[in-house]
Amino acid sequence: MSFIRGLIDSLGSIFTDSGDDSQQHHPRNLDSPFMEAGGGIGVSPVSNERAAYKIKGYFDLAKEEIAKAVRAEEWGLVDDAIVHYKTAQRILTEGNSTPVPSYISSREHEKVKSYRQKISQWQDQVSDRLQALSRRAAGATSTSQSVLSHAKATAVSSQTSNPRKNGAKNFPQSGRNVPIAVTQRERVPSSKSLQESGGSYDAKLVEMINTAIVDRSPSVKWEDVAGLDKAKQALMEMVILPTKRRDLFTGLRRPARGLLLFGPPGNGKTMLAKAVASESEATFFNVSASSLTSKWVGEAEKLVRTLFMVAISRQPSVIFIDEIDSIMSTRLANENDASRRLKSEFLIQFDGVTSNRNDLVIVIGATNKPQELDDAVLRRLVKRIYVPLPDESVRRLLLKNKLKGQAFSLPSGDIDRLARETEGYSGSDLQALCEEAAMMPIRELGANILKVTANQVRPLRYEDVQKAMTVIKPSLQRRKWEELEEWNREFGSN
Ligand SMILES: Nc1ncnc2c1ncn2[C@@H]1O[C@H](COP(=O)(O)OP(=O)(O)OP(=O)(O)O)[C@@H](O)[C@H]1O
Ligand SMILES: [Mg+2]
Repeated sequence: MSFIRGLIDSLGSIFTDSGDDSQQHHPRNLDSPFMEAGGGIGVSPVSNERAAYKIKGYFDLAKEEIAKAVRAEEWGLVDDAIVHYKTAQRILTEGNSTPVPSYISSREHEKVKSYRQKISQWQDQVSDRLQALSRRAAGATSTSQSVLSHAKATAVSSQTSNPRKNGAKNFPQSGRNVPIAVTQRERVPSSKSLQESGGSYDAKLVEMINTAIVDRSPSVKWEDVAGLDKAKQALMEMVILPTKRRDLFTGLRRPARGLLLFGPPGNGKTMLAKAVASESEATFFNVSASSLTSKWVGEAEKLVRTLFMVAISRQPSVIFIDEIDSIMSTRLANENDASRRLKSEFLIQFDGVTSNRNDLVIVIGATNKPQELDDAVLRRLVKRIYVPLPDESVRRLLLKNKLKGQAFSLPSGDIDRLARETEGYSGSDLQALCEEAAMMPIRELGANILKVTANQVRPLRYEDVQKAMTVIKPSLQRRKWEELEEWNREFGSN
């Protein structure tokens, strides 16, 4: 009997006849020593009622690991496959050695016996795969070290590249067409491995996705974003903490997978997303709408599919789609086919990652036109955070920050006055205002500009900023602001 048959049979019988509590409780949430110890296996006694379903929990864990290993094999990532098989092996060993009290009922005893038999079968299969892969990995290393045997190297690589022919097919499949290859963030599934695996992922698309990955070295720090406390709190709960403490954010605490940042232009939506990239432990994909539509006309759909596939493989991941309205706006009757397909693909992929409880892929969209978003997209972006115009206290903070580093003689009373007078200015308007004001002392220099030393330039004054306000005015129309406020009342989460 093939392993996969065995597996299906095992799971079928376990899941159907293991009693009600096994359906309701997952041992991982109770006391799986494996999860707590991160590999150090300590065995705790189990109560009478829990013996069987605790062992079933090891099945679940091992199953997840084996599925990952199989997908890693599909991609030709032998090392990753080995890591996952080894983890599965440890889980199975632990499952089999879980002590069972002698006073359990005979029915419970039967169940335990049957699970143990099945675990043993799994152990055999996993050991076989591990042996085969270790041989292959060793073969690949020695061939790559030896310049002599080109022919052998080819043979090895073709063997590695098509693991499905070599035994991996005997393992369970994930029931979803997107493979999970690796969980370590450092491993990038290269286009080569994808191509070699015979998948339908296009090399140039994978390369493009990989270039969209944002380095975590912070370009924007959390503290750089002034105000926006509610938005920060939501991002902290939904993205930053869950990616750092996945163990705590399960079950009811499982984070929402879709978030929309909306609000008038220039108030820190993009900036917040960049701060998330540097603060969270997630792989951050910064996908601009224009890159999905313009450069890759006709391929956008494939690109979306590839994007989610890479994001799953490198999870925890955040997919940030700036200006999401430009690709996900309301479907119009005269909409062209390509954009309709792109949206559908996005929805399908998004549902894929949200329905799998083990995936941690969070989609963050940003827009200043939330009214134009397609309802279906909006429904999936369940948390909608308003990023409003800065209020007086935030304007004060922004002015202080922006003017920092400039020689200026603005007593704090003047800053307060300016904060009051700049009502309606967005964060980027304030930035432009400060830049304009900073030019005033320079303009006064006239022809002397080439002669003076930097410390001879006079400091900034209140009047400079006031004068600059005649040039730089608030950019948001009142009507648009009202529309956004209205939308926030109706659809926003705050
Ligand atoms: N809360 C803020 N804290 C600090 N700087 C800010 C803040 N809001 C806006 N800015 C300034 O405004 C600039 C534009 O901000 P950002 O690009 O994040 O706006 P946005 O909300 O994404 O706008 P758009 O809707 O046009 O994309 C930033 O580079 C920064 O200089
Ligand atoms: Mg932006």
